[in-house]
Amino acid sequence: MTEDSRTSYASEALTPDRFAFLAAAGGAAPSLHNSQPWRFRATGDRRGLLVERDPSRAVPVTDPMGRALHVSLGAAVLNLRAAAASLGLECRLRLLPDPERPDLVASLAFDRRPPDAPPNPDAELYPAIAERHSSRQAFTNRDVPERLVAELIAAADHEGVVLAVLEEAETRRILALTADAERRTAADLAREAETRSWVRVEALATDGIPVEALGPLDRDARVPVRSFTGHPPHGGPGSVRFEALPQLATFTTAHDDRSAWVRTGMALERVWLVATVNGLRGSVLHQAVEWPDTRWQLRDPETGPGYVQVILRLGYGPPGARTPRRPVEEILRLD
Ligand SMILES: Cc1cc2nc3c(=O)[nH]c(=O)nc-3n(C[C@H](O)[C@H](O)[C@H](O)COP(=O)(O)O)c2cc1C
Repeated sequence: MTEDSRTSYASEALTPDRFAFLAAAGGAAPSLHNSQPWRFRATGDRRGLLVERDPSRAVPVTDPMGRALHVSLGAAVLNLRAAAASLGLECRLRLLPDPERPDLVASLAFDRRPPDAPPNPDAELYPAIAERHSSRQAFTNRDVPERLVAELIAAADHEGVVLAVLEEAETRRILALTADAERRTAADLAREAETRSWVRVEALATDGIPVEALGPLDRDARVPVRSFTGHPPHGGPGSVRFEALPQLATFTTAHDDRSAWVRTGMALERVWLVATVNGLRGSVLHQAVEWPDTRWQLRDPETGPGYVQVILRLGYGPPGARTPRRPVEEILRLD
């Protein structure tokens, strides 16, 4: 991702540098266990990019439907859109464009933005891509201002997803469901083994909090704390003490299919980037979504029917550590 690749715009086909710039942004997206289940392929005319799922990077025990996999891919697509906007490109997006090609999750066609068009506000999200990290440490008790809450809700709405920023009673209910799900996950040997195969304690933050990171199976691997409920997974290194009342937000869709999952990912990343631009940090609490019955109970009866896809904890605090990413050459095909 060179500065030059951002400033010297080729009028027709995109250069390999530009594709690399886009792929680096897509590859920086959050993903379940940092599995990074994506492949990016330049179209033959070099004016577009195909986003494919990589079945070899699925997490089938924890995520049998591929729901989280598609959420992760959606987050990558949002990053690609923001990166394209930062290059002054228009981007025509199609989700799941070809039913005959189930691995093809999205196609993006790029055009030069007309000179008289106002700047695409998505370009402002681009710098936040590298700044955004999962921050699993304690946040301060400072409230998220109402103005920002409204902006985050609008960001999710932009992708067709409902963001609910929870009040105290709902927060406590969802934390209890998360703790319940986490206990079950910890007792499930197959899930534990699968998680261990993806996650290793890459680094310990100064206060000893493990960072979920990409890695091959590590001899000393420990299952890191994945939630903040005070119930460490069996054999895990311990739980994290966190702010008095975390600010949780749920992402809900009307349907529960591949398109809804990809949209959730785009909404998650858009919300997370807007949050980052505004100095907020975030981390995902996913355990309760991973078990059908706790997931069902996550639905808020007052907001009507819908499927909760992701829970995000937001707050002010440490930025979180950078986690490794696969090299661009591994995730981008130019042929
Ligand atoms: C669908 C999904 C589920 C996730 N579930 C959890 C989780 O339960 N606990 C957690 O700490 N992080 C969770 N994460 C965050 C990933 O672990 C994180 O994105 C990945 O390790 C890369 O790190 P980064 O977000 O700092 O770039 C989830 C992310 C996604 C997209």
